[in-house]
Amino acid sequence: MRQAGRSLPEYRSLRGEGSILEAIRQPELAAEVTLQPVRRYGVDAAILFSDIVVPLVGIGLDVEVVPGRGPVIAEPFRSRADLARLRPLEPEVDLAYVLEAVKILVGELTVPLIGFAGAPFTVASYLVEGGPSRDFARTKALMHTDPATFGALLDALADLAASALRAQVGAGAAAIQLFDSWAGALSRSDYERHVLPPTRRLLEGLADLGVPRIHFGVGTGELLDLMGAGADVVGVDWRVPLDAARRRVGPHRALQGNLDPAVCLAGIDAASNETRRILAEGGGTGHVFNLGHGVLPATDPGVLGALVELVHAETTDGRVPAGVGDQERA
Ligand code: CP3
Repeated sequence: MRQAGRSLPEYRSLRGEGSILEAIRQPELAAEVTLQPVRRYGVDAAILFSDIVVPLVGIGLDVEVVPGRGPVIAEPFRSRADLARLRPLEPEVDLAYVLEAVKILVGELTVPLIGFAGAPFTVASYLVEGGPSRDFARTKALMHTDPATFGALLDALADLAASALRAQVGAGAAAIQLFDSWAGALSRSDYERHVLPPTRRLLEGLADLGVPRIHFGVGTGELLDLMGAGADVVGVDWRVPLDAARRRVGPHRALQGNLDPAVCLAGIDAASNETRRILAEGGGTGHVFNLGHGVLPATDPGVLGALVELVHAETTDGRVPAGVGDQERA
């Protein structure tokens, strides 16, 4: 999950003070940062060190990731004319450094590497708002006042994500995760009408890659069934118990989640009790244990290490199923 490394002293010392986008542009450094939590915790998969705004940088937009704040767009998207600024991605050129990091990692990892991209709605929200937002007011205003432009924006961002994900799998990623972190801000009907069609098209269009497709959101309890479209795994945050999530998503998709990251700040005993409850509610097969959102920076690495051990001890074989991690396939 995002920012597993942020709690680690070895991450902070390697990253230093520079911009995260500058760090991502250095494949050896990005690969090392990806490996740090895998080494320290013995987790069953690695998530590439990158960011959801990297493809936007790749097509030439002026984006910065401001520490403590998040992505900031110099010239926000507000009208139809702005669509012309979204040219198609050429991953081999525009994301060459990302693909190089993936290749280095595939050679070094003994667990699967998860590639990722930002989902159309979440990335659109940064483009339209110009940065992080609480209410997504401008994004929702565009959606309702000019649905055609909003739809064209999401279609373009779906194409961008699809080509970034396809390229990561081509370079050796063994699974992909689509982050729609802020989709939970939408009503069910707005999601269904404006966001589901491009998102479904994006995920279904990647079926031929033959890798697990994980669809992640926060506060998306009321959207879980819809988010299953085109996905093999649906992310669930801590608000919905996994047995309820299972009823919403149905029997044919796996669930990922759903420990509240804040519980990890309450110490090993509290976090272990919550983890046991989640494993019981997840019901074993078809559940990928994870946090419901990113690791909080103040988290004690000792707590995360203890949780990984606990999950391995309490689950049947403690490892991902055979085949999922086959790096040879790539
Ligand atoms: O564990 C990892 O580091 C995995 C790599 C990863 C990052 N960002 C690195 C990162 C992943 C998977 C992401 C995805 C991402 N980025 C999402 C979707 C997932 C989610 O968390 O909901 C979103 C919404 C972003 C945008 C973004 N980037 C935010 C909101 C922030 C936080 C800003 C802050 O400092 O609080 C970032 C910065 C960021 N991306 C950091 C990391 C490790 C932390 C800052 C840094 O190290 O400079």
